[in-house]
Amino acid sequence: MVNRDKLSKAYARELETFRRIHPTSIKRFEAAKDCLLQGVPLNWMVRYAGGIPLSIDDAKGVHLRDADGIDYIDFCLGDTGSMVGHGPEAAAKAIAEAAYKGTSHMCPTEDATWNARELQRRFGMKYWQYSTSATDANRFAIRLARQITKRPKVVVFNWCYHGTVDETIATLTPEGKIISRVGNIGPQIDPSYTTKVIEWNDVEALENALKDEDVAVVMAEPVMTNIGIVHPAPGYHDKLRELTRKYGTYLLIDETHTICCGIGGYTREYNLDPDIVVCGKTLASGIPVGVYGFTEEFGNKAEAELVALYGLVKGIGGTLAANAITMAAMHATLEHVLTEDFYKHAIPLAERFNAGVEAGIKEFNFPWSTTQLGTRTEYWFLPEIAKDGTDAVNHRDFELDWYMHLYALNRGIFMTPFHNMAVMSSATTEADVDKHTEVFREACAEIAD
Ligand SMILES: Cc1ncc(COP(=O)(O)O)c(C=O)c1O
Repeated sequence: MVNRDKLSKAYARELETFRRIHPTSIKRFEAAKDCLLQGVPLNWMVRYAGGIPLSIDDAKGVHLRDADGIDYIDFCLGDTGSMVGHGPEAAAKAIAEAAYKGTSHMCPTEDATWNARELQRRFGMKYWQYSTSATDANRFAIRLARQITKRPKVVVFNWCYHGTVDETIATLTPEGKIISRVGNIGPQIDPSYTTKVIEWNDVEALENALKDEDVAVVMAEPVMTNIGIVHPAPGYHDKLRELTRKYGTYLLIDETHTICCGIGGYTREYNLDPDIVVCGKTLASGIPVGVYGFTEEFGNKAEAELVALYGLVKGIGGTLAANAITMAAMHATLEHVLTEDFYKHAIPLAERFNAGVEAGIKEFNFPWSTTQLGTRTEYWFLPEIAKDGTDAVNHRDFELDWYMHLYALNRGIFMTPFHNMAVMSSATTEADVDKHTEVFREACAEIAD
């Protein structure tokens, strides 16, 4: 068991160490407070373990170097944005070349077509569109689904995350009421107008949500990844497909993180049959991108709607989406970086990482569990893998979480903030993984009863 007394003391010591060895990151953070709100470019960065984000000067492969000259093995990799590693050669070259040939001119480039054909091959969806982020891809896909079906609502799973999409920032109370998610800034409108929230893996709740036939689309990560990794129960995906079809609701599979499973995400690996696929993040080696693809049937209906609206479609697109530099980066990434070989290297490393963590947990008899999904692995402070979002959220432990993160950080390992998640890349080595295993074991030893 974890000894809470030892934990509090060890945590205080790690915090003190963190502050002592990062004088430059702290100085930069304090100095930025007169021009960046709270001293950070994005508000959630103040929630990093230690309360201050590292200021990064350089990143290559799976290594980060911070402003104090400290080197880290990066297991966060931009929370999948840089799953391909920082600055992969082929993408860096394509980006540099594209920068001299015009980055944004509101006209298509041939790379946009090449990429769409490649996405077609990987995910099986007929038509593709671009956005500047996966958040936007989700937003635009929802709009098309609502336009086609003339239905107002979406279904999401409790504690899901699909980016900052208004309709999805909702949770369920224990009494089953749909409310704006805790911490949601400037709640849009009462989310129960736009959204039905159900628990992952609950077939009955799914059917209840769909049977009024007012739901345009169900949005699902094929495996929940944003509240720990929560796998589908056996047969759940079949039910999801069967019931969405039965009630005339579209099924959107968000592969933004589950692209960790293989070149066509979980959809390809497990033969899913969605109407819409969304992806983003790592597809252009860290250059902002989002994509959404859909079936021929969906595409034909969307086109008919666009024609009926005289093509004056508002609220979809954006001037910078599909710009030339992003398309060039994506082409290079798909052709040379995010290939079958990438996964052949990275997935066994995730298995090795997971085995290392499991050994530590077992040695100290902690009531924690681990799980792996392709190149991704995560441990969570509950004895068995969570069955739904509520199960996972009930076992969050912030002191323990910050301690584990700081302990690793102070020894040159950068884990994904807000998770105990690690992603492997083609540049990750067995030695990197073994270093984590060693540090993880030491962190556990310090707080064991
Ligand atoms: C499943 C999923 N979809 C969409 C997004 C949004 O991605 P972005 O922040 O790049 O828009 C995220 C971000 O973490 C995600 O996890």
